[in-house]
Amino acid sequence: MSFYVTTPIYYVNSTPHIGHAYTTIAADILVRHQRQRGEETFLLTGVDEHASKVYRAAEEQGLDPYEYLDQIVVPWRELPERLDARPDFFIRTSDDGHKAFVRDFVQRIYDNGDVYEDVYAGHYCVRCEAFYADEELVDGNCPIDDVAPEWIEEKNYFFRLSAYQDRLLQLYDDRPDFVLPAFRYNEARSFIAGGLKDFSISRAGQPWGIPLPWDESQVAYVWVDALPNYLSALTYARDGEDLRPTLWPEARHLLGKDILRFHCVYWPALLLSAGYDVPKQLFVHGWLLLGDRKISKSAGNAVDPLELIDVYGADAVRFWAARSISFGQDGAVALDSIAERYERELGNDLGNLVSRTTAMIARYRGGVLPESQNELGEEIRRLADSVAARVDAYDITGALEEIWSVVRSLNRYVEQTRPWALAKDPARSDDLDRTLYTLGDGLRALAIALAAYLPRTAPEILAALGQPDSLAWENVAPGRTTPGTNIAAADPLFPRIETPTAAA
Ligand code: ME8
Ligand code: MG
Repeated sequence: MSFYVTTPIYYVNSTPHIGHAYTTIAADILVRHQRQRGEETFLLTGVDEHASKVYRAAEEQGLDPYEYLDQIVVPWRELPERLDARPDFFIRTSDDGHKAFVRDFVQRIYDNGDVYEDVYAGHYCVRCEAFYADEELVDGNCPIDDVAPEWIEEKNYFFRLSAYQDRLLQLYDDRPDFVLPAFRYNEARSFIAGGLKDFSISRAGQPWGIPLPWDESQVAYVWVDALPNYLSALTYARDGEDLRPTLWPEARHLLGKDILRFHCVYWPALLLSAGYDVPKQLFVHGWLLLGDRKISKSAGNAVDPLELIDVYGADAVRFWAARSISFGQDGAVALDSIAERYERELGNDLGNLVSRTTAMIARYRGGVLPESQNELGEEIRRLADSVAARVDAYDITGALEEIWSVVRSLNRYVEQTRPWALAKDPARSDDLDRTLYTLGDGLRALAIALAAYLPRTAPEILAALGQPDSLAWENVAPGRTTPGTNIAAADPLFPRIETPTAAA
């Protein structure tokens, strides 16, 4: 079985902010963890280019849209790379393979009799690229972006979403874990149960987008263009290979709550109409907030993830993202908290422990870890199972807390056993061996458990301990540390940062 994870494809009307980094980090953590457990994995991310607001951004800069895209896509490609996320494919909706797929996809829906022509007269929010009925507006504004929508009146093609209400309810009833967390499942299900209105799947008189195969004067509505990316990518990501048989419908979509309806209601209905299976699961996470406002470019409170990485490094940003906000919930992000976690948790709890342990192995045992037993073996054994279970439930925050509780245990252990005192008493040589082994073996297992979160630091810890670089999950187990050779006092893994607020 394959483990296929997607992020939303992000709008490229401006550069990435920390909210986009957040979903990409979470997706990469899930994928790296499953790979350690021997799964075949595939991570898809990319960009959504046919939005009206993308076209307008190009116009504002006086650029041809394709010229604009070639410039703006650079920082978007850089985002996963700088986060140490390893997407297996980066999709652009302007790819020929994607455009061809979307035309076929909408043609199938058309052939199935689910498309009809009508006049759309109503509100359209360009920021979230969504149509809204009067009663959905809040004080006349878009309920998501809190800006005044535009009024549009045009002949459109509509999708018979209303005809899918029963099938969607059946799907939700058959698969209680189709959408996670449970409160998001309930939100999506009650939206469906409340009655579904047909929606427009095209835009008239727009020069920007994928023309409909049966009426080239109209382009596909940007969401009908974007959602199929999760499938289209599989048809051309690998030359001459169709990945759909292995990866679809084993797909897990990660997304923010802002786009729940499109993913949890529209997307499965479109798939059913086009004759495809629905994905395995959707996980809807919350928003990073600054104060009580969603962080967004349009709210003007965006934080540049690349600047944070410049100061703290990708591992620290990943750690902070997974740890600061319980994955699934909304969370206010204090930017000082990244400096604080860097220093206290990564620097002191983890980094110092590695420095002290390696220094003691070097000093007391000539750089060779003595053979002995891990006194905290039971704790490590339990850790392997509890972390795996939590990550399986998308609880990357809870899993990290399980790991950190063992980091704290090892710190308590070193304080209690006082190896520096044992070293003074030749009669207690066995005790010192056991203590050093417990620390070295514990850190080795922790490094492997942390590798999905700290992909740079984990191999550094293993190397400092003279251990093989394998990250196989089965090695999150006690007693698997080899003696190593030439273990020397490790350099600080998370050196002090003199200006921790530089990025804030
Ligand atoms: O909606 N907190 O693109 P988008 C947490 N192109 N996550 C956040 C966030 C925040 N403050 N801000 C953004 C689109 N995100 C469409 C998607 S998919 C077929 C098409 C993340 O650029 C989160 O994943 O507005 C959210 O759902 C996504 O970025 C929206 O990115
Ligand atoms: Mg958005």
